[in-house]
Amino acid sequence: MCGIVGYVGTRRVVPILLEGLRRLEYRGYDSAGLVYYFEGKLERYRAKGKLANLETVVDDYIGTASSTGIGHTRWATHGAPTELNAHPHTDCSGELVVVHNGIIENYHSLRTELTAKGHIFASETDTEVLAHLIEDCLDGDLVAAVREALARVDGSYAIGVLWAKEPEMLVAARNHSPLVMGVGENACYIASDIPALLPYTRDVIFLDDMEMAVLKKGEYEILQVEDGTALEKPISTIDWNAGMAEKAGFKHFMLKEIFEQPQAILNTVSGRIVPETGIVELPEVGLDDQAIKKIERIALVACGTSWHAALVAKYWIEKWVGIPVEVDIASEFRYRHLLVDDRVLTISISQSGETADTLAGIRRAGAKGSRILTICNVVGSTMTREADGIIYTHAGPEIGVASTKAFTSQLAALFLLTLYLGQVRETMDAAIRKEYGSALISMCGLIEEELPRLQGEIRTLIEKYYDARDFLFVGRGVNFPIALEGALKLKEISYIHAEGYAAGELKHGPIALIDKDMPVLALVPKDDVYQKTVSNVEEIKARQGRLVLIGTAGDEHLSSLTEDVLYLPEVLPDLNPLLYTIPAQLLSYEIANRRGCDVDQPRNLAKSVTVE
Ligand code: F6R
Repeated sequence: MCGIVGYVGTRRVVPILLEGLRRLEYRGYDSAGLVYYFEGKLERYRAKGKLANLETVVDDYIGTASSTGIGHTRWATHGAPTELNAHPHTDCSGELVVVHNGIIENYHSLRTELTAKGHIFASETDTEVLAHLIEDCLDGDLVAAVREALARVDGSYAIGVLWAKEPEMLVAARNHSPLVMGVGENACYIASDIPALLPYTRDVIFLDDMEMAVLKKGEYEILQVEDGTALEKPISTIDWNAGMAEKAGFKHFMLKEIFEQPQAILNTVSGRIVPETGIVELPEVGLDDQAIKKIERIALVACGTSWHAALVAKYWIEKWVGIPVEVDIASEFRYRHLLVDDRVLTISISQSGETADTLAGIRRAGAKGSRILTICNVVGSTMTREADGIIYTHAGPEIGVASTKAFTSQLAALFLLTLYLGQVRETMDAAIRKEYGSALISMCGLIEEELPRLQGEIRTLIEKYYDARDFLFVGRGVNFPIALEGALKLKEISYIHAEGYAAGELKHGPIALIDKDMPVLALVPKDDVYQKTVSNVEEIKARQGRLVLIGTAGDEHLSSLTEDVLYLPEVLPDLNPLLYTIPAQLLSYEIANRRGCDVDQPRNLAKSVTVE
């Protein structure tokens, strides 16, 4: 939420800031702004709406010989998305500017105090308080003033600060909002996320909470915010490249990422399972065999799409490992009465590794003695630095706001984990483990083969459905969470009201919604609950619901129920969630695209929800 980028070096800064913001726009896109230092002054440009509007405003300044600046793309928390509320914000003199991601919780009292002292505020944002507070503390030493100001602030922040009197210095700090520093030749960078840095450097330093950085041309210092102590931090080299965060000829990032799923799943499983023996190797879980044998319960914690992956994993782990699994939405987990201790393994699932509620959840569980394992896509993210063990999904950068490849690679990681726990606790027969392990690996090729055909069929199919007002998704067992995921995908990118239900729940209320205008997508693979789901489908048909069925190739009964059937190859039933997700994603994508929606940047949303 909100993207920050900053640069101090020798190159022209405006193109670097714009490119960085373009790569961070998925974090928020209701306004954007930048500031650069030029001829003794800070020049600021801001625009409401997408980054393209800012680009128009700064077009004439691209070639300006300035090499220090900061930029921001906003997802509004305090104050409407207007130009006045767009970052950067300045102090009274206009000589000090701040960009910020996070929420200053005590901004109201600070604003009252600063107003009484004569500070004049120009926006409704919490961020502007920071600019005036730093101004108030400033007595010739910017670093000291930032530290003093931050000591008075409650809440979360990642900030970048420039002062006209120190033209070659950029001060950055973080607390509970992500911030990464890039180290280049004669240049230093800051960014909210790695993709902004990839065209320039892959050498990065992850700042931790209550740390700040003082960046100059090719030199930097990292300090504790609290007492100014200098810190030595390791430089990590990122193995993503700049091209991975480009559309590569696809119309949208979401479509590209849907098509990247075979590779993403392969990256997740590669080197972690020996196909000939079915032996799973996951030393990164950070638990030895004794510790794994002692686990009495597992708590899975996540938000949104990642929570749906957790719901699928509950079916797998309980079936194959026999450990009771609780699944929580992180925003509930973090505040409810938690019965968690050292006998419980808490597993967070997160694409970004920065989701505020999930982070707070694992911190609470950790404080109660639980071991923390995280399943995460972003190397070096906050969650991975705080967990005791990490299973990286290695899906590559996910830029589309609607999560796709992150989800299926989370499923692959969770299935691997299930096999691993079953192996260590000896709850899963070795031959079955081998069969499932090989089947998991072959999912990559299978999905790759099915994708083009499915896309073609779905493009035709959606002509009947793209203007629907509502949509229901139903499934049973391990596919029930896929119904939830399908509904979430559709509503977030097409704005069609959609709900997912366990097929058996329909009779307990939702069936009242069904009439000749209600499309219902049902997941009906040939599994052990097939007959039950078919009965539910018949009930929908009897009430004239418009049926779209996704089922197993060769199941002709489905074609007798509706003409709109998508067939998928038969796989081991436990692996159906990986396969059945694909048409649900494509259906949502094609409907949203047909409706002319902004697929990669749906309204009101942002990727990486770093505020609660
Ligand atoms: C939906 C979506 C979100 C995220 C959720 C958690 O398409 O992307 O629901 O899944 O915000 O994000 P992470 O996985 O980064 O913790």
